[in-house]
Amino acid sequence: MERCNLLALSGSLRRLSYNRTALEALRALSPSGISIELGDIGALPLFNPDLEDSPIPALAALKSALARADGLIIASPEYAHGISGPMKNALDWLVSGEEFPGKPIMLVNTSPRASHAQAALREVLVTMSGIIIDSACLSLPLLGSGLARDGILANPALAGSLQAGLIEFCRQIRALQQATLAQGAAVEEQSRCVIG
Ligand SMILES: Cc1cc2nc3c(=O)[nH]c(=O)nc-3n(C[C@H](O)[C@H](O)[C@H](O)COP(=O)(O)O)c2cc1C
Repeated sequence: MERCNLLALSGSLRRLSYNRTALEALRALSPSGISIELGDIGALPLFNPDLEDSPIPALAALKSALARADGLIIASPEYAHGISGPMKNALDWLVSGEEFPGKPIMLVNTSPRASHAQAALREVLVTMSGIIIDSACLSLPLLGSGLARDGILANPALAGSLQAGLIEFCRQIRALQQATLAQGAAVEEQSRCVIG
């Protein structure tokens, strides 16, 4: 497989967050050729459109990590039936940029009962022109498990699901990239015929 560079964002800033832990496990399970950078959304200021053109180092770092990434992995908790504030804040900062639209997205839900936030998150991501890769999205029963990263890695069912989801995500990213290349070549050929 060609290289697949991914950015992973946790919507929880909690030290022992299951969402962050799941992303750390995913990174540890990455086969060669797949790299996962864990992004930081905790240092972003509260979203304010007046500041969009101001130099904000945390935002610049997030945008450049997203621009470098072939795909985005999001693991985010549900708070009061909604998207976590930190995740919604980060997404609001990315709405008007050019890095997000068309980006393939894998969702990791660490609490299968948290359906409201997942539905709301999907609505936001699709509105922002992200491409959710359903066949790679995972729902893992981590809430209340007490598992840290190494516990997840030692659990064959959890580790197997994470790794299979990751490999499927990169496979679908590659297919999308190839389809885009083929489309570009077809358009180029068509314009050559028209001009010629
Ligand atoms: C303020 C608050 C509100 C929550 N609301 C919900 C909720 O509406 N539905 C739900 O399924 N879990 C809810 N939870 C549970 C969290 O989603 C759960 O603790 C999750 O593991 C937090 O993610 P983390 O482990 O990555 O920090 C809530 C937790 C907190 C702290």
